[in-house]
Amino acid sequence: MDTPREVWSARSVFILAAIGSAVGLGNIWRFPFVAYENGAGAFVIPYLIALLTAGIPLLFLDYAIGHKFRGSPPLAFRRLSKWTETLGWWQVGICFVIAVYYAVIVAWAVRYTFFSIGQAWGDDPEGFLFSNFLQQEDGARVGFDLVPGVAIPLVLVWLATLAVLALGVQRGIGNSARIFVPLLVVLFLVLVIRSLFLDGAAAGLNAFFDPEWSLLLNPTVWIAAYGQIFFSLSIAFGIMITYASYLRIRTNLTGSGMVVAFSNSSFEILAGIGVFAALGYMASIASVPVDEVVSGGIGLAFIAFPQIISVMPGGSVFGALFFLCLVFAGFTSLISIVQVVISAVQDKLGITRIPAVLGVGGAMAACSIALFPTTTGVSVLDVVDKFVNNLGIVGVALITVISVAWLLRRTGELGDHLNAVSSFRANIVWQFCIVVATPIVLSAMLISEIRTLADEGYGGYPDSFILVLGWSVQAVLIAFAIILAVLPWRRGTDLGHPESTQFLAKEGHR
Ligand code: ALA
Repeated sequence: MDTPREVWSARSVFILAAIGSAVGLGNIWRFPFVAYENGAGAFVIPYLIALLTAGIPLLFLDYAIGHKFRGSPPLAFRRLSKWTETLGWWQVGICFVIAVYYAVIVAWAVRYTFFSIGQAWGDDPEGFLFSNFLQQEDGARVGFDLVPGVAIPLVLVWLATLAVLALGVQRGIGNSARIFVPLLVVLFLVLVIRSLFLDGAAAGLNAFFDPEWSLLLNPTVWIAAYGQIFFSLSIAFGIMITYASYLRIRTNLTGSGMVVAFSNSSFEILAGIGVFAALGYMASIASVPVDEVVSGGIGLAFIAFPQIISVMPGGSVFGALFFLCLVFAGFTSLISIVQVVISAVQDKLGITRIPAVLGVGGAMAACSIALFPTTTGVSVLDVVDKFVNNLGIVGVALITVISVAWLLRRTGELGDHLNAVSSFRANIVWQFCIVVATPIVLSAMLISEIRTLADEGYGGYPDSFILVLGWSVQAVLIAFAIILAVLPWRRGTDLGHPESTQFLAKEGHR
């Protein structure tokens, strides 16, 4: 006898959880830099076009698949068509890989929340980060000596994540979204407002918004915009399929998607404003142009921000708040990524939540703790992140739209499903985006990325390092997906008739 699928208690809880998943490290430390590097103010054009032509349409597609077929990605895709189960497992594998390193960055932020209070980095944040805190080996030499200063917060992050997931969809994920998302918004607003009152903030904002129109002719700018939207909206790697599978049958899907997409983008732009106001301040203190102090990713959060914190009045409080925001944003995203893997294993093996959390979540935590708090951890993280985002997510998104739209020709049926329950219609424009625009853009992105990575490598790492952690990891994910898809389902799993389809069929919908 099937246990009934868990449900969100209300649509608002789902929306908060989906925003919690979308708003993450990608918004706070990735977006400001990506935008600045790719045309600054002019980036708004490719960004909005990417949001409207791929972000929102694919978000709707994820919702439709998860909601209509009511399952984790492998189950939902299996119900869509037997042979697409592999796509579901590919997405699950991507989530596995992202989760194991994403947790590490959240753990760094936990540590830096405390470092900020005493400004532990002294007058050399960069040296402190790499030598004292991360204890990095030079280059990409492999060294697996454990770094306790990273390992301990990482264990805590995993314990908190698995505790939330053990509580279940509504009590765990839903309630943590209800706490952390509003808290994040309030704290972040305080930070942004404070940044706007710093000397030099205006110069920072000028740099952020000053459009470089000529860059719009450069294809890499467009690729960056689409890449940013995918990661940031948490689409095409199983999260939204999983979250939508816990919605009640009568739920306004497209209306919810609009709220999530625009909240995510608003937060992203807010982050850009806050970060660049602070960078403007730092440039004014150092009497240099803003472009000399701009950096992205690790450099922004863990080097530039500590520098700002050290010089500004009330820097310790500002710093602790900034890192706390990173922790909250990252934590609600991490929960959603791990949940994809747990729900997939639950569905396939027919096991209850707690054994799945302990078994699967425990295995993910073990990989994360064994690999990343080591003296090679940062290089591993950098390469794995680059390949899984630029090849893995883009690749699975492309094969998914080709399978669903071109080979199976199911977009009409999925559009009907969205329209049967939603306010905002998934109309011909949506169909065009899924069937024509997205496959073209994704193919261009994938081909260009493969060529660049094959010709130039990445980040100056040795070829063998890139081969093992970059290309091979992606190949292994695909191989695993194929193997898992041929393994049998628990006896009694209904692979064909999810209850939402039956329910809506009775009302005359396809
Ligand atoms: N959407 C999440 C982020 O932006 C994964 O970090």
